[in-house]
Amino acid sequence: MAACGGANVIQVEGLNKRFGDIRAVDGVSFEIRQGEIYGLLGPNGAGKTTTLSMLAGLLAPDDGRILYDGTELSVDPLGVKAKLGVVPQETAIYEELSARENLRFWAGLHDLGDVDRNTRVDEMLEQVGLSGRADERVSGYSGGMKRRLNLSMGLVHGPKFVLLDEPTVGIDPQARNNILEIVRDVAAAGTTILYTTHYLEEAEQLCNRIAIMDHGKLLAEGTLDQLKDRVGREEVVTIRGAFDADRGRKAVAGIAGIEIVGAEQGKIVLSTSGDGRGSLDVLSRVLEGKLDVDGVSIQPPSLNGLFLKLTGRELRD
Ligand SMILES: Nc1ncnc2c1ncn2[C@@H]1O[C@H](COP(=O)(O)OP(=O)(O)O)[C@@H](O)[C@H]1O
Ligand SMILES: [Mg+2]
Repeated sequence: MAACGGANVIQVEGLNKRFGDIRAVDGVSFEIRQGEIYGLLGPNGAGKTTTLSMLAGLLAPDDGRILYDGTELSVDPLGVKAKLGVVPQETAIYEELSARENLRFWAGLHDLGDVDRNTRVDEMLEQVGLSGRADERVSGYSGGMKRRLNLSMGLVHGPKFVLLDEPTVGIDPQARNNILEIVRDVAAAGTTILYTTHYLEEAEQLCNRIAIMDHGKLLAEGTLDQLKDRVGREEVVTIRGAFDADRGRKAVAGIAGIEIVGAEQGKIVLSTSGDGRGSLDVLSRVLEGKLDVDGVSIQPPSLNGLFLKLTGRELRD
């Protein structure tokens, strides 16, 4: 994957959003370099859509700043939005129209400069692989085709910045790969991308840098290698059985090289530092007879392991 050494063109500083008692976005800051695909990875309810909606200018932050090319979104919303492409999670397509008609309509809402609208629409249809069926009604399209059309609607005006909200949810692997390819191409042409997902593999395959988000906060950020370094050789061990949190904690207290990540009724999550193997042996010996254990699972060093360590729960929970 190409390194992105460009300037920071998207800057987010201290973003906050509450809904009643819920801190949907809680002190989020990050920067994205030109041409980078920046992944916001987190489970449902993490605050991804709320973050993206604020970056899209669709939702006002309680506080914090959002800058594109050094210009604050709140200072020049129209100027900034003209350079912005937004691909929402829910598709915003007229099912009774064809893909071409949808795109023409969408393109008509934007100033395309000197570019001829029909030419641009043809290019977009080609880029997302819908040229062959562009004049059919969208209602007959597969989920993957609708997603590609939705994507093209966010790209038709040639934006400098694109915000994508989980664009591959609910489609098959081939259709997903299709979308990822298009996103890669768009970034390779110099467009800067914010990509939200709850799929770990996607973030790994696609993104130059990844921020792990949960409960409104960014918990870790970096390239895949940096995040993996952070996990080091640690393994995450989950022990399940008939015990409560307190008993679980007591049983493993004081074992060298073990850190308790989380404990609840019937489950305790540990991380092992250094040489995982040895500490596991110790662990199994100490546990013998101390806890009524139903099962032990070991998560090797991985992003999922890092997530588990940071939050005490699986990304897929
Ligand atoms: N309009 C809203 N009103 C109240 N709560 C909301 C609203 N939008 C989001 N939330 C809450 O904010 C949190 C973050 O939601 P969201 O940003 O949609 O997460 P994600 O996109 O990561 O799944 C969740 O707890 C969600 O229920
Ligand atoms: Mg969402």
